[in-house]
Amino acid sequence: MTIIKTLDIPSTPDELTKVDEVAERVAEEMSFSKDEKDDIAISVSEAVNNAIMHGNLANPKKMVHITFIRERDSLIVKVRDEGNGFNPDDLPDPTSPENLLRLKGRGIFIIRQLMDEVTHRKTNEGMEVTLVKKKNAG
Ligand SMILES: Nc1ncnc2c1ncn2[C@@H]1O[C@H](COP(=O)(O)OP(=O)(O)O)[C@@H](O)[C@H]1O
Ligand SMILES: [Mg+2]
Repeated sequence: MTIIKTLDIPSTPDELTKVDEVAERVAEEMSFSKDEKDDIAISVSEAVNNAIMHGNLANPKKMVHITFIRERDSLIVKVRDEGNGFNPDDLPDPTSPENLLRLKGRGIFIIRQLMDEVTHRKTNEGMEVTLVKKKNAG
């Protein structure tokens, strides 16, 4: 397990560009395919956006901590906020008929589709989401 990069950003939406660039670069360095790179960039952006908006309530004094880890042919990305957390098993299903036309509430669903493993954990410091993408997993 090798830590490739750590990023600590204040909770403002304009930090998302920087995070996106780093995610793309890390995926590039690990030789992920174009599609896999897109999956990683979208998922990291959604997770960081959630950490900024829902976790830290866009309070610029609160930080989002992002760690990129390499393990064999997998990239692991950890995103931690400084908020109170939530129950990820308790979310409305965005594919159910009454939710189909809603524009919000799709981020975690999309992350779960695009990544190989997604886990949420409530820590003493805040909510932490761990994203795993395996190379050539299809
Ligand atoms: N880091 C977080 N801290 C607290 N609540 C969160 C966090 N991430 C997600 N949530 C909760 O889960 C819900 C679903 O998130 P998501 O699927 O990304 O949809 P959206 O962000 O559009 O609401 C959010 O509306 C919020 O209530
Ligand atoms: Mg979201």
